[in-house]
Amino acid sequence: MAFDLFLYIADLIEKKYNKYFMHHSSADDYLLYFPHPPASTLSQWLEESNRITRHILENIPAADHIVPQLHILNPPLWEFGHLTWFHEFWVHRGGQVSNPSFMVDADHLFNSSEIAHEDRWSTPMPSLDSLLEYNLNVISSTQELLCKPIDNKAAYFIQPSIFHQDMHNEAFAYMWQTMGRPMPFLPLSDRSLSNENKQTWIHFPESSLEADSHQGSGFIFDNEKWAHTINAPSFDISSSPVTNAEYLTYLESASNLSQLEPAAPPKHWKKEDGLWFERFFDEWLPLDPLSAVRHINYFDAQHYCKVNGLRLPNEHELTILISQKSTAWQPSHLWEWTSSPFSPFPGFSPDPCTDYSLPWFNGKYQVLKGGSLYTPDRLKRAAFRNFYQPNRSDHFCGFRTCLL
Ligand SMILES: [Fe+2]
Repeated sequence: MAFDLFLYIADLIEKKYNKYFMHHSSADDYLLYFPHPPASTLSQWLEESNRITRHILENIPAADHIVPQLHILNPPLWEFGHLTWFHEFWVHRGGQVSNPSFMVDADHLFNSSEIAHEDRWSTPMPSLDSLLEYNLNVISSTQELLCKPIDNKAAYFIQPSIFHQDMHNEAFAYMWQTMGRPMPFLPLSDRSLSNENKQTWIHFPESSLEADSHQGSGFIFDNEKWAHTINAPSFDISSSPVTNAEYLTYLESASNLSQLEPAAPPKHWKKEDGLWFERFFDEWLPLDPLSAVRHINYFDAQHYCKVNGLRLPNEHELTILISQKSTAWQPSHLWEWTSSPFSPFPGFSPDPCTDYSLPWFNGKYQVLKGGSLYTPDRLKRAAFRNFYQPNRSDHFCGFRTCLL
């Protein structure tokens, strides 16, 4: 009955679209996230994302089913069960624990808000075969749904489930990078930088602009609500990310070496016989001077800026840059740090997956923009706000600078 009522309301919203904008309650904001992609596109996205996940899991050597108990890692079998559980919970169980799962005890085992991080190592997990079967059951059910047109509500819940899976696929990639294991899946973007363009400073004059996402502009995450006017003073931002060569020059500079605690080389660098190498997954490669420097944490990026008389862009400045379709700037294929702490915009209210943003508005996270080689295009919207703790550098992150 409640579900029928929901469909009726969703239908009404689509018909009375403009009028509804003025009267909706914030708890139902997610019903404003349309137009959605057609079912065929969602089906394709889900197939792509799940193919990668299953490929990763089917190729993990048994010895790697257990990974070191670090706060930046998760046991792979737990992560696989968790992303399948998330999808099932929101797409097939209406976000209600009272609706049964395909897997016994799934809520207890795989709800990341319920099972403490350290318990993910000590709690016995189902076998890989049963998790593969659980995943097959859940994803096949969604693919069946997507064989025909779907309503607004279903289209909404399928998207965060796919994007959440995309994020966990990327987390698998940087977990394997941390552990020096082979690349778990091929990059999703072309990794070559266009090196023909020399580094320049791109000037943006002072402007008043609408930051973030509008109602009716398709799927968004709750932390993008809502578009609001900001006054952006003029700024000059680098067309290129900071490169390995620039970072090395900084590391070896007198101004860095004279510091009480000079900056250390990034994770996964080593010097042998006077030459620098960088580990990428399980391969040591000569350091490419023109590639964007990666695995730099926020504090090290800030330190680089300070020593060089520069600053990090804030999230609005970086959004303005990456919104330009121009070829005048170069992507880093990394998540780029901004000077903006992760905080709510005016008009924020949590969406049904309440733990996506709300618990992290605590001043302990910084916003990153962009996307890595392991981020699918569907998550690389300019308005998308990623966020990590500033001391982390295990994910694929880098930075670019602004003039003071
Ligand atoms: Fe998750």
